[in-house]
Amino acid sequence: MLNGRKVLLIIGGGIAAYKSLDLIRKLAEKGAKVTPVLTQAGSNFVTALSVSALSGQKVYQDLFDLDAESEIGHIQLSRAADIIVVAPATADLMAKMANGTANDLASTLLLATDKPVLIAPSMNVQMWHHKATQRNLARLKGDGIHVVGPDEGSMACGEFGLGRMAEISDIIDSIQNVLWAGPLQSRHFLVTSGPTHEPIDPVRYIANRSSGKQGAAIANALLARGAQVTFITGPATADRPTGANIIEIETAAEMNTAVEAAGHCDAAIFAAAVADWHVVGAGQSKVKKTDSGALPQIEFGENPDILRSVSQRKTNRPELVIGFAAETDNVVENATAKRLKKGCDWILANDVSPETEIMGGDTNQITFISESGAEKWPEMSKFETANRLVNKIVEVLGDANT
Ligand code: CTP
Repeated sequence: MLNGRKVLLIIGGGIAAYKSLDLIRKLAEKGAKVTPVLTQAGSNFVTALSVSALSGQKVYQDLFDLDAESEIGHIQLSRAADIIVVAPATADLMAKMANGTANDLASTLLLATDKPVLIAPSMNVQMWHHKATQRNLARLKGDGIHVVGPDEGSMACGEFGLGRMAEISDIIDSIQNVLWAGPLQSRHFLVTSGPTHEPIDPVRYIANRSSGKQGAAIANALLARGAQVTFITGPATADRPTGANIIEIETAAEMNTAVEAAGHCDAAIFAAAVADWHVVGAGQSKVKKTDSGALPQIEFGENPDILRSVSQRKTNRPELVIGFAAETDNVVENATAKRLKKGCDWILANDVSPETEIMGGDTNQITFISESGAEKWPEMSKFETANRLVNKIVEVLGDANT
C-alpha cells in the first residue's frame, strides 16, 4: 500500500519515542522506505543503533554533521521524501514549527521542506491543553500541517487525558490519506468487477471467462488519484486493489444487493461480467444422474440488470454511470444502443470474439461511447485503458486545485 513511498521520520524526545520503532517496522512491512531523523531529545529515549537497525538506514542526527552534509544536504534530505512524519511531536517541536525556528536538524528540515508534513503530538495532558500549545496547533493546521491524535488515556507521568500519541495504525492510515491526496480525493467510487458464478447445485455453477483484471486496474487508477473505492467483485483471479473497500460476492443477485448497500457514490463503473441468468431452484442437493439416463432440465431466471437500475435511479443516481459492453458482432452499433437502453453516461465497448483474446487477456481495445458519439482507442494494456478512462473521469469530477 505504501510500496516505494519515502517517509522521512523525525523522532522527537518523548516517552512515546519507543513506539516510533514499531512505526518504522510497520511502515517497512507496507513497503515504505523510512529515513530516520533522531532529535537530541529523542536520543534520550531510543538509541540511534536500534532506529538504524530497524529502518536499515543511516540515522541523521546533527545539522552540522559534515559527513551527512557531504552525502546529502539538509535541503535535499527534506525534499527527497514523499512525506515528513513527526512522531512523537513534542510541545517543543510544535512550538518550533509554529514559529519557523530552525536551530537543529529536525526543525531545519521542517522549515526547508516542500512536502506534506504529518505530526503525531504526544505530551502531558496539561501541556497539550496549554494555551500556547493550542495556539501553536491552530497555527500549524492553518499552515497546512496534518495532525493525527493525540489520544486520550493514562500517561507515563501518571495523569489521564488527551496527550497520548495516536496508535501506530492510525498514524499509518493518516500517512496513507495524506499521500493519497489527488484530484479525486473526497470522491467515492463504486467499481464492480470479475465474473459472477451462478450455482446449478452446491458443486456446479455457470461462470464466464472474466479475470477481473480490467476492473482491478480501474480501481487502482482511481485509488492512485486519491479516490475512495468500494470494489464489489465476483470470484475473479486478478489481485484485489489494495486500499479499496473490498466486497466479495458470488452471484449477480449478491452483487446487486452489495451495490444497493454501498450508499451514495459520485460515480459507478460496472466492469463486471455479470451473468444475465441464474438457475431457478438451484438447491442444497447435488443433481444426480438417473438410471433412466434422463438429462437434467435447467430452468433459467433473469438476473437483475444492475447497471440499468443504477443508471435509471430517480434518487441517489451517481453523477457519472459507466458501463462496459462485451460484444461479438456490430460492436459500435450494439454498444451505442446499449448505452441508450441502460441509461448510462458512458459505455466502453469491446469486441470479445474469441480471436481477440480480450476476455481474460492483458490488453483491451475499447470504443468509448458517450452522448457525443464513438471514439476508437488503440489497443493497449488494461492498465493503460484504466488510466485513460480515469483521466476522463478526472476531467468531469476532478478537483482542479489538486
Ligand atoms: N451488467 C449489469 N448487470 C447485469 C448485466 C450486465 O450490471 N445483469 C452490466 C455489465 O457490468 C456491463 C454492462 O452491464 O457494464 C453490459 O454488460 P453486457 O454483458 O455487455 O450486456 P448485457 O446487458 O448483459 O446485454 P447482452 O448480454 O444482451 O449484450
